[in-house]
Amino acid sequence: MSDTRRVRLRAFAKLNLDLRVLGKRSDGYHELRTIFQTISLADSLDMAFTPGRKTTVELDDELAIPDNLVSRAAHLALDATRAAGRVEMRLTKRIPMGAGLGGGSSDAAAVLLALPVLAGRRLDLARLSELAQQLGSDVGFFLLGGRAVGIGRGTELFPLPDGPAQNALVVAPGVHVSTPQAYRDLSPRLTSESQQNKIFSFQSQVWGRGVESLPRNDFEEVVFPQHPSLAAVKKRLLRSGASEALMTGSGSALFGLYPDRNRISVALQSLGADRAFPVSFVTRPRYRRTWWRVLEEHITGRTWPPQSRYAR
Ligand code: C5P
Repeated sequence: MSDTRRVRLRAFAKLNLDLRVLGKRSDGYHELRTIFQTISLADSLDMAFTPGRKTTVELDDELAIPDNLVSRAAHLALDATRAAGRVEMRLTKRIPMGAGLGGGSSDAAAVLLALPVLAGRRLDLARLSELAQQLGSDVGFFLLGGRAVGIGRGTELFPLPDGPAQNALVVAPGVHVSTPQAYRDLSPRLTSESQQNKIFSFQSQVWGRGVESLPRNDFEEVVFPQHPSLAAVKKRLLRSGASEALMTGSGSALFGLYPDRNRISVALQSLGADRAFPVSFVTRPRYRRTWWRVLEEHITGRTWPPQSRYAR
C-alpha cells in the first residue's frame, strides 16, 4: 500500500490597498508601510508527498520557471522538519506573474503550510515565518491571509480586522515591471522630510480607510511615467465607477474597488480589458477555512493553523 498523501491547495493572490516606501535601510531593502489584502483570484497547487530516505522535489509547472520559489519552499520545509521523501507538485497558474499580485509568494507559502502537515511534522509559526523571509518579502503575509499591515521589509505583520465584503476588478496589463528596478528608481526621491507625512497619512488609512486621506501606492510615481498605459488604466477604472483605483505592489496590475457586482459587470464591458479579473476580498476566517478543509484529514490531534510558541 502506498503511503502517499495528496492535497489540492488554493494559493490566493494579494492586493496592496496602500503602499508607502519610506527609505533605504542598511540591509539594502526598503522600509515599507503597507496594507495587504488576500483576494479570490488563486493558483491551484496539487501536491503529493511520499515518505522516503531521500528528498526529491518534482514540479510540473506549465511555465517552467527556473529556480522556482515553490521548489525552494519544499526543500526548506522538509529540511526544517528533518523529514525526507518524494514531493510531486503540479502548479496551475491563474494569477498573472510579475504583476504585484504575490502569486509566486502565495504558492511558496502554500508549500510551507501544507508540506509539514503531509509529512506528519509540525513547524510553529515563528519557524515558518523565518523560512518565508528567506523566500521573499511577501511570503510571510500568506501564512496569515485576510487583511494585515506590513512594516519593515514588509515582513513584520500585524493582522487587521476584515472590512465589509468588497468586490474589486483587477486589471493585469501585460507590462513587465522589475521590482528591484522600481525600488532603485524610487530611492533617490525618498527624503526624510516626506517620511513623517507618509507615516501620518498611512496611519489614517489603517485607522479608517479613506476618512482623512486617499490611499496611495508610491510606486505609481515612478512606474506610470515609464508606462503611461498603466496611468490610463487607472483613469479608466475610476471613470467606470470605481470608488478607488490603485496599482498593487510595484505593478503592473491595478485594481478598482466597486460598491457591488453589477457595477463590475458594467465596468468590464466599458473597459473591454481582456486581462481583467472580477474578484472579492478573502477574509482571514475564509482563508483559514479553505486551508483547514484541505488539510483536516492529514492533521492528527494537533492545532492548525500553527501557533507561535511566543504567543501565549
Ligand atoms: O524580497 P523580495 O525577493 O520579494 O524582493 C525583491 C527585491 O525588491 C529585492 O531584491 C529588493 O531589491 C527589493 N525590495 C526592497 N525592499 C523591500 C522589498 C523588496 O528593496 N522591502
